[in-house]
Amino acid sequence: TDAVEVNQAGHLMIGGVDTLKLAQKYGTPVIAYDVSKIKKQIADFKKAFIEAEVPYKISYASKAFSSLAMYELVAQAGLGCDVVSGGELYAALKGGMPPEDIEFHGNNKLPEEIEMGVEAQIGCFVIDNFQEIKFLDRALRRKHAKANVVLRVTPGIEAETHKYISTGQSNSKFGFDVQSGQAKKALESILKNPRMNIEGLHCHIGSQIFQAKGFVMAAEKMVDLMKKWHDELGFDTKVLNLGGGFGIHYTKDDQMIPTEDFAKDIIAAVKSRAKKYNLKMPEIWIEPGRSLAGEAGTTLYTVGSRKDVEGVCHFIAVDGGMGDNIRPALYQAKYEAYLAERPNALNEQIVTVVGKYCESGDVLVRDCLLPNTHPGDILAIPDTGAYGYTMASNYNRNPRPAVVFCENGSSRLVVRRETFEDMLSCELGLT
Ligand code: LLP
Repeated sequence: TDAVEVNQAGHLMIGGVDTLKLAQKYGTPVIAYDVSKIKKQIADFKKAFIEAEVPYKISYASKAFSSLAMYELVAQAGLGCDVVSGGELYAALKGGMPPEDIEFHGNNKLPEEIEMGVEAQIGCFVIDNFQEIKFLDRALRRKHAKANVVLRVTPGIEAETHKYISTGQSNSKFGFDVQSGQAKKALESILKNPRMNIEGLHCHIGSQIFQAKGFVMAAEKMVDLMKKWHDELGFDTKVLNLGGGFGIHYTKDDQMIPTEDFAKDIIAAVKSRAKKYNLKMPEIWIEPGRSLAGEAGTTLYTVGSRKDVEGVCHFIAVDGGMGDNIRPALYQAKYEAYLAERPNALNEQIVTVVGKYCESGDVLVRDCLLPNTHPGDILAIPDTGAYGYTMASNYNRNPRPAVVFCENGSSRLVVRRETFEDMLSCELGLT
């Protein structure tokens, strides 16, 4: 988070809407998106490609925040999207994504998911493994159809991020390994297949990455591979998909590189290497998820109980927690917290913000500087727009929060809060 937006009363604002009003109107926990921030990120990525004069495609990695409203917004902006399951594909189509703009990812796409993609005539399958080539071929034969594909490889890059979310190294579960020759084998088998049209290559080195270096190294390795397969197989890579993973600013410690600069470095690396090898400049595709949705979202909670043991612990508990944001518990992810009523007030105490779940690891912000809080205060945790709602659970039978979109001073409910009844909707019981 950078500077927070406040109104004349000094209250925290999101998209021009007073957060206290949002909490009152929609209840808490609620995830409020500042739509203009999403639009700005999209515009910045586009600008970098347009200025560099390279053909490009931006696909929103919808696992970051998959909702009908978000798909609608992404479709309106003319972006593609990536989906990783039948469920995301279903939602993307319902959200109005043109099928031809959808990319299908995943390391274990189920036969029925592949069939769904073929049926919908999606834009591209990102081929991850040999089994998938078989399944896709079977589905295409059955439907007398053709499909565009790109081949996902692991270029052998270790990005500097948490090990759970780094995926570019050879021992990753995703994609074909290059060193052992399996990637080439896969390519040969696809090239032979008249039902598959291979457009190019894909790699994704990890997530929440801050240094352009990792991307540049990956891009260079990929262009080396393009050259190798051009020489060995006569294969021309039309599309180079470099995945997502652009880091965002969660706390003051995160040193962020502006989106445009990031994209520029990567484009420059591909350009110069392609030129060196005398290869045609490929179309560059990226798949940002977190960087489009993350900083736009703020979760509002209501403060409830507190526990103070002098010299030992100071806990402030809110009405949500690990069920709406598992990231601190899963990745030791760091966030900042603000009192919605006085985000700029003098911070006088160090507290740990915890949730209401029956789990000691249910901590949202450890050692957080806040003004004195009282039960009923609204607490805001910014930068929760990515991998919050999508990784939410009903643990302890807590309903998933509501989601609102805010822009130009007005707000709109885009996902209603779950009810107790919703949570039982799949249950059949015994009698
Ligand atoms: N493309 C591929 C192939 C991916 O696997 C991912 C993320 C993305 C794009 C989008 O990455 P992004 O731009 O959002 O960093 N749940 C974790 C993140 C998992 C990311 C998985 N793949 C978290 O909350 O940090």
